[in-house]
Amino acid sequence: MKRLVDLSLWRGGSLRLRFLLAILLWVAIGIAGIWVSASRVFTKHIELQYHDELYGHVRELTGLVQVTPDGHLHLSRRLSDPRYLEPMSGFYWQVSVYHGDRIHSDSMLHGKLDEDIAHTPEVRHVVENGPSGPAIVYGLTGLTPDGRVIHYLIATDKRYLDEAIAGFTKELTLWLLALAAMLVGTGLLAIVLVLRPLDRLGASVAALRTGAREPLEGPFPSEIMPLVSDLNAYAADNQAMIERSRVQAGNLAHSLRTPLAVIIDEAERLSANPATRAPGRTLLSQSEVMIQQIEYHLARARSAATARSSIKASVIPEILGPVLNAMRKLHPGKTFDVDTNGKIVPGVAIDPVDLSELLSILLDNAGKWARSSVTISISPVAGVCTVAILDDGPGMSLKQIEDAYGIGVRHDPSSPGTGLGLAIARDIADAYSIELDLTCSPGNGLKAMVKLPLA
Ligand SMILES: Nc1ncnc2c1ncn2[C@@H]1O[C@H](COP(=O)(O)OP(=O)(O)OP(=O)(O)O)[C@@H](O)[C@H]1O
Ligand SMILES: [Mg+2]
Repeated sequence: MKRLVDLSLWRGGSLRLRFLLAILLWVAIGIAGIWVSASRVFTKHIELQYHDELYGHVRELTGLVQVTPDGHLHLSRRLSDPRYLEPMSGFYWQVSVYHGDRIHSDSMLHGKLDEDIAHTPEVRHVVENGPSGPAIVYGLTGLTPDGRVIHYLIATDKRYLDEAIAGFTKELTLWLLALAAMLVGTGLLAIVLVLRPLDRLGASVAALRTGAREPLEGPFPSEIMPLVSDLNAYAADNQAMIERSRVQAGNLAHSLRTPLAVIIDEAERLSANPATRAPGRTLLSQSEVMIQQIEYHLARARSAATARSSIKASVIPEILGPVLNAMRKLHPGKTFDVDTNGKIVPGVAIDPVDLSELLSILLDNAGKWARSSVTISISPVAGVCTVAILDDGPGMSLKQIEDAYGIGVRHDPSSPGTGLGLAIARDIADAYSIELDLTCSPGNGLKAMVKLPLA
């Protein structure tokens, strides 16, 4: 039912919308076809019935009319249908002799029928104005014993025929509308049932991407099963390939470290000698840049963010505990306080290794530059858990904050560091599309804020 009312699932281009339009089209064509043909068949049938009845009545009338010896018209008995007796009932008969007698049914209180309608010995019928509105008039002629033309006429108000057809059409329309509603309802249900496995597959693939589940599981229809197996195999291959690449990147970085250490050693020796100081310093500074790059790329290779095919969710308190223990040892004399605003902290959609790295970088910076205290505030609101790390250090200017994310950028060379922390933090945040903000208000130190999506 939820899938029926979720309009986003029925947007343009979706299979649902296409199926729905096809069903609506065929139901409309089918129902309109049934409506037209059924009402035509019924109209034809009821018209035939009417005409048969009136034909019988006019034949009965000719058999009942007698001419008296003095030339007057006379009915040997009444017509069998009592409606010819009821005043203005809509059923009338009339018999007349040219320039002579005219007798008519008791029902015809006023008005008369046009005797010229009966102008041949064959039964003819027309729609004419009768005593109480448009009427279907049947007529034929005969001859009196003395050879005068005698006109026999039977008329029935056309409204009876029209009312019968309108009544049938109304009922037919209601039934067909009900049938159309049932067909569309059944079609909608079929769409939901048929496409449900695809929705489940979509959810499973999303879970696979966020690392919540792996591999795709659950009973799928046999038509989708091959796709599920292929996706699982593809995900496994992908994961293995990423793992291999990460190991290779790490190996490469490690293998460069030793030769670089030798080069740095040599460069230091050269820069100590006044004759070779200039080239020695150039070599030294370039080697430092290389080390920074290696450290940076090693950190990136470690990050699961680059292997987004499988990401485990993290529980912040579980990650924060060991990181804070390390920070307290690393920055003795500084206090680290956690404030969860009295709320239970839910899991967040970021790999534990990456979250640990991200928090370590920000807390290490806060610990390095805080005068005495660092406060970590955690507030989960509306699908996002905001972690704010506030220190009471000197902070940074807006320009410094802007530049601080660069590889190797350091604004305070007196403290130890490589200038890679914030560059790696920015990388991790970007990989997860996490908001990472540094703000600084005068006299307040730096506030680093990350907005983590809930798992
Ligand atoms: N909490 C902070 N208070 C004041 N300045 C900061 C703070 N955090 C970062 N900075 C400034 O931004 C610069 C870049 O920070 P980043 O973490 O990238 O490098 P680092 O801490 O110097 O070295 P690393 O983190 O690689 O050991 C720092 O050198 C420092 O000048
Ligand atoms: Mg740092």
